[in-house]
Amino acid sequence: MIRRERPNLEITLAITGASGAIYPHRLLNLLAAEPSVSRINLIASGAALRVLNDELDLQPLTLHNLAEKLVQNHHHKIEVLGNDDIGAKIASGSHPVDSMAVVPCSMGTLGSIAHGISRNLVQRAADVMLKERRKLVLVVRDTPFNLIHLENMRLATLAGAVVFSATPSFYHGETTLEGIIDQFLYRVMQHLGLNPEAAFRWSGDKGS
Ligand SMILES: Cc1cc2nc3c(=O)[nH]c(=O)nc-3n(C[C@H](O)[C@H](O)[C@H](O)COP(=O)(O)O)c2cc1C
Repeated sequence: MIRRERPNLEITLAITGASGAIYPHRLLNLLAAEPSVSRINLIASGAALRVLNDELDLQPLTLHNLAEKLVQNHHHKIEVLGNDDIGAKIASGSHPVDSMAVVPCSMGTLGSIAHGISRNLVQRAADVMLKERRKLVLVVRDTPFNLIHLENMRLATLAGAVVFSATPSFYHGETTLEGIIDQFLYRVMQHLGLNPEAAFRWSGDKGS
């Protein structure tokens, strides 16, 4: 069978109430600017809105102005879905979402995903990605981790999720916070099926 290129990706980005609002803020802009992404399903938990308002200088952020406030261009690609809308299209495996990221992923949402507790749209959409064997990336954030957190990461990994800790690298030469975060997010984007041009690629000879 001939494999066809699929440049029009539909990606779900879920934001939950862990610290690190800069991650979803930058990721949403990077995804929106990505030519191969045609649709972004955006969900934010109530706790996420609280943390976004605490950490970003964009208040007041609500579900209604989220896309306009967080993203500079390409708003037409973004559809904001309510976290209590468990009848949304992405709550069903029959709707073809290519990949999903939860950024940042709170320990509470991690636990719910790891145990299949689909009580809101973030958790249900993640559960659908796992049952359909599609790519699910969880960028978990807390520190330190207790045994429950670690076991939940293990379980989510066994079920097929890719777990990133919100821990950037520092070997790419970026010096601004935005540059460092973007390089981290390029790695996330690679796991979402994208190939960001500005991603640093280690060639093995830096510093030798
Ligand atoms: C300012 C702030 C920072 C928080 N940071 C974290 C965090 O880094 N990790 C985490 O797991 N929870 C954190 N929490 C707690 C979560 O928001 C809380 O457990 C919430 O119920 C998560 O709900 P959600 O997963 O539906 O978004 C934070 C809460 C606040 C208000």
